Amino acid sequence: MRSSLPILLALALLVLTACGSNPSNRNKEASPMSITPRPFGKTADGQDVTEFTLKNAGITAKVINYGALLTELHVPDKSGKTADVVLGFDNVKQYETESPYFGCTTGRVANRIAKGKFTLDGKEYTLATNNAPNHLHGGAVGFNKKLWKATPVAGKDGPAVKFAYRSPDGEEGYPGNLDVEVTYTLTNDAELRIDYKATTDKATPINLTHHTYFNLAGQGNGTILNHELQVNADNYTPVDATMIPTGAIAKVEATPFDFRKPAKVGGRIAQLPGDAATKDPGGYDLNYVLNSQIGKLAQAAVLRDPSSGRVMEIWTDEPGIQFYTGNFLDGTLTGKGGKVYQKNFGLCLETQHYPDAINQPKFPSTVLKPGETYTQTCTHKFYAK
Ligand code: GLA
Repeated sequence: MRSSLPILLALALLVLTACGSNPSNRNKEASPMSITPRPFGKTADGQDVTEFTLKNAGITAKVINYGALLTELHVPDKSGKTADVVLGFDNVKQYETESPYFGCTTGRVANRIAKGKFTLDGKEYTLATNNAPNHLHGGAVGFNKKLWKATPVAGKDGPAVKFAYRSPDGEEGYPGNLDVEVTYTLTNDAELRIDYKATTDKATPINLTHHTYFNLAGQGNGTILNHELQVNADNYTPVDATMIPTGAIAKVEATPFDFRKPAKVGGRIAQLPGDAATKDPGGYDLNYVLNSQIGKLAQAAVLRDPSSGRVMEIWTDEPGIQFYTGNFLDGTLTGKGGKVYQKNFGLCLETQHYPDAINQPKFPSTVLKPGETYTQTCTHKFYAK
């Protein structure tokens, strides 16, 4: 990144004020689109991290090439006042040493793999068990801790940054050289869209996701328990005491997991008290089986904060979404602007394949083979009402 910064600055000037042509967007004149890079700091081993500020349709998003992660997202409320609606840090060091996956790209396989083991094409593979007794979010050094190659793109839908990373054969125990691209686009329709693409030279499991903790009232401004959530899922995947799916697909009906109609996140959360014996702090942490069809972009969830009126719709072509209410946040992390993150101060809606799919023959497959291309699109659409 060191040598490419002047080129990036020149590019940023080129794309500045390149307004789109969608007449339906009234914010357009007031908020021209732009991409602006700036140094964000250095990794512990001295590598430069660059932050890119994307502006379009009244929204500002900031992404960095460390972890291909989203650091800030400023969205207007019903009176037009913007707030940063994602949890995060303002320095590289905290992302390296204490981040509970804030805003990052999670992989090679997001979520859990039972006991860190799987068999593929007759060969058994062993991965790190970094969430004892299981493998979580790609292992000890997942994609969230890698430095990605960044390319700003003045795309037709809005300003974008493409992050690329080659995960070498054997990295974290996974087979095959995997070439991954993650592109963040801030669209002319007030959406933050994430497009994923990957190819491999050996069969490998892959399950990428985006791990932002949202708080539509503004980061650090209390819990998300008053947010209203709707999830387009009739079913979910029940888990054992170590959070590994039993293989069953169960109905949400008559459980606290039923968000088919909009409901307060905190309304029934007391029915999920956790268990000190298994270090479960309580709260939502489950995978929904979406009603939509794999490969077809469809609305998965709608989140609304009644105090600000901010709404976020999540659209995905993935079969599942992990809903996690920041249960492990406990006031020990100090984030952006000195805000202290207490339990439930943010929630994640992670579009993905189901947990442990590589060991669950009945779940949609996460295996990518040579010659195939993995793709995924996830859209976060914002408005206020
Ligand atoms: C995911 C998991 C949670 C937790 C967080 C990170 O959302 O489902 O159990 O591990 O990541 O803290």
